[in-house]
Amino acid sequence: MKVLVCGGAGYIGSHMVRRLLRDGVQTVVFDNLSTGHRESIGDAVLVEGDLLAPTQLRDVFARHRFDAVMHFCARSLVGESVQQPYDYYENNVVGTLNLLQAMREADVGKLVFSSTAAVFGHPESELIDESHATRPINPYGASKRMVETILEDAARAYGLRSVALRYFNAAGASPDGDIGESHSPETHLIPNMLRAANGDAPALKVFGNDYATPDGTCVRDYVHVDDLADAHSRALDFMASNEGAHAFNLGNGAGFSVMQMIRAAGEVAQRPIPYEIAPRRAGDPDRLVAASAKARRALGWTPRYTDIAQIIETAWRWHRNPRY
Ligand code: UFG
Repeated sequence: MKVLVCGGAGYIGSHMVRRLLRDGVQTVVFDNLSTGHRESIGDAVLVEGDLLAPTQLRDVFARHRFDAVMHFCARSLVGESVQQPYDYYENNVVGTLNLLQAMREADVGKLVFSSTAAVFGHPESELIDESHATRPINPYGASKRMVETILEDAARAYGLRSVALRYFNAAGASPDGDIGESHSPETHLIPNMLRAANGDAPALKVFGNDYATPDGTCVRDYVHVDDLADAHSRALDFMASNEGAHAFNLGNGAGFSVMQMIRAAGEVAQRPIPYEIAPRRAGDPDRLVAASAKARRALGWTPRYTDIAQIIETAWRWHRNPRY
């Protein structure tokens, strides 16, 4: 089995690469290293390249015969996508089309695609399952939903098999502390809390405490990166016996507010997280919590990390001693 991992040097991609290597899968990483880290991919082969350069893509498919592709490359910041929509549509949609065309030319017929809870827009129910309407409210979510539509069309036209995995809030790090989340600038809650605890960043800004939630702060569903990687491996197996384009929500099914996260992180770090209340951040829905029954049923997926303290603990190990 040989897999191309586009964006394999990024946060979620690098945890996937580790898992594939551990499972004995031949793994080639294609990454432009714009946000990824060379140090994060272990012994995987790295091809430095860009999805917006079709000749670089053709080259990698000419040199290797892949059984499947996993596609993690994307611009992924909601706020930035509102400011720079062309960049988001170009990277996330045009880049993916280039990849799909190269796959088709090389006769590679299976894709696992990183999608997001942002395809749903404003939640209309407590738990979001796959039947929830997809009405994204920002260019990031729209770009991911567009790709899901392209994958549905590609299944009909070309027989492409695909699984779109809609992550809720990816969290945590490899438990041995070797790889973890390293963005610059960092916008995500858990790294910002832990960096504030360490004194590596100023006090955490809590973006809004007047939301329609029990304590007024936003509620999210945090799912460990290794559980996400596990779902991808299962998606590969699933495509061996299932045609068509499929989409699954991946979350723990439990919501935690920003204030609950601050308390949990304080306990893990054994020190209070310095924070201040700040204005709302544009585009944050009150509450995003997944119903993942479909993934559990179809993929046999069960997240191993269900305890929020355990998830934060893995992130804390990384943030105390980040390698990159
Ligand atoms: N938050 C703060 N302070 C911070 C950072 C975050 O209060 O410094 C709050 C946010 O307002 C939000 C929650 O913590 O309420 C979680 O924020 P993150 O930035 O960690 O994650 P998001 O829920 O905004 O975004 C994640 C992914 C996106 C994806 C989205 C789905 O990072 O790619 O889930 O809606 F689009």
